[in-house]
Formats: sequence, C-alpha cells, structure tokens
Amino acid sequence: MPGMIDIHCHLLPGIDDGAQTLEEALALAQAAVADGISHAVLTPHVFLGRFNNLRSSIEAEFQRFAAFLKVKNVPLQLSFAGEVRLDAEIISLVQRNEIPFLGECGGYRTMLLELPDAQIPLGSITLVRHLMALGIRPVIAHPERNKAVMEKPERIGQFVDAGCFLQITAGSLLGQFGPRVGAATDFLLNEGWVTAVASDAHNLEGRRHRMREAWIVLERRFDSEMALDLMRTGPAALCGIPVDVESVHE
Ligand SMILES: [Fe+2]
Repeated sequence: MPGMIDIHCHLLPGIDDGAQTLEEALALAQAAVADGISHAVLTPHVFLGRFNNLRSSIEAEFQRFAAFLKVKNVPLQLSFAGEVRLDAEIISLVQRNEIPFLGECGGYRTMLLELPDAQIPLGSITLVRHLMALGIRPVIAHPERNKAVMEKPERIGQFVDAGCFLQITAGSLLGQFGPRVGAATDFLLNEGWVTAVASDAHNLEGRRHRMREAWIVLERRFDSEMALDLMRTGPAALCGIPVDVESVHE
C-alpha cells in the first residue's frame, strides 16, 4: 500500500474538538504513520462563534507543531488547511486572506467546506457559485453524514454540478456512523462523485484514522486503482501535493 494522503484531520492540539494536548497530538500523529498515512493535512475547524480559528492563527500553531514532530522524528509529511463551516462570513474571510485553503487544483484554490449536520441551508449553492467566481472550488467535507443527504443522497448532485469536489470519511465506509450513512456513502461512490477519502480523525478513542481499513474495503468492493485514486492520487491533486509516481508502484 503506498502512503495515503489524509486531507482532513484534527491533530493540532487545543484549538478545536480534536487533540487537546501536545501528548495527544503526538500520539495521533504516530497513529497516522502506523495506519499508513504519509502526508497529513491538518484541518482544524474554522467555525465562527464556536472555534474562532483563522488562517493566521492556525499557521502559527502549525509551525510549532511541525517543529515538535520533527524533533520527535515522526515520519509524517505535514501541511495545514481548515475545515470551514458554511457561513456567509466566508466571503469576508476570503477578502481578509484568512481562509486556510487546502491548496490549488486546476487553477482554483481549494477549500474544505463543511455543511451543517442537519440540513443544506437555503443559499448554499449561491455561496458556492460566488466562491467559484472568486476562483475557489469547495471540497465538501463528508456530505454522507449530513441528514438531508442521508435522506436523499442525490441532493448533493447540485453541488457536484456547480463544481464542488466531495470528500467522504473513512469510517463511513466501515459502518462507523450507521447504515444510513453507509448507504449514502455507497450512492456517492457509485455515482463517481467522490474525489477523496479522509480520516477526520479527532482522537484515539471513537474517532481514530481507520484509513487502512477503508483502503481494504475499497480494494475489495472496487479495486486497488480505486483505493489509490481516492486515498492518494485524488487527495494529492486537490491540494496540489506532488506525488512521487515511482513510490506509488513500489
Ligand atoms: Fe472534521
């Protein structure tokens, strides 16, 4: 299995509901390596009013944490972005250069965008179109776990049509969030709408990485090409991370 690229996890300590201490964060980083992840994009919540993280503050935390992992010799490549909660304020964050983007893909900046848990708010598509016009392509974080999408997975099609990419959670493939999330996951995969599987890891208890297990499920249900696409090549492309083709075929 080539190194997986995890574009959604909550390792940075003490700034959201992920790792709380440096020790927890170190243990999670070591667990990521043990799970087969070679590159982790650290994506704290950017959720105004709840987790008031911005690009500038995340970047400062990231630099400290990356230096710490280096000292500890953890062989994990790192970058940072943010899981940006859908909010009309996003546009002002763009203007203030405070959106932590995933990277660049096809001439667009890419942003991990989270919908609320229960519904797809009115106006979401308008916001997506506005972002696209600004040269920003959203990557929708775990749409399969949104209740409106669980009820009717085709509802997310309008986002795909508008230019969004989709990222599903590894645990959704493993029954971790129940059968309805599993069914929505299957629908999105079968439609060919998914570009990346990511861990959304928060801790070593109920919210571990589980990427290796998800890889095996993709291999069994589809093939190893699909696993590679969704867990290495696709995620790398979304962030503009160069992948070494040689090592993929080792
Ligand atoms: Fe998350």
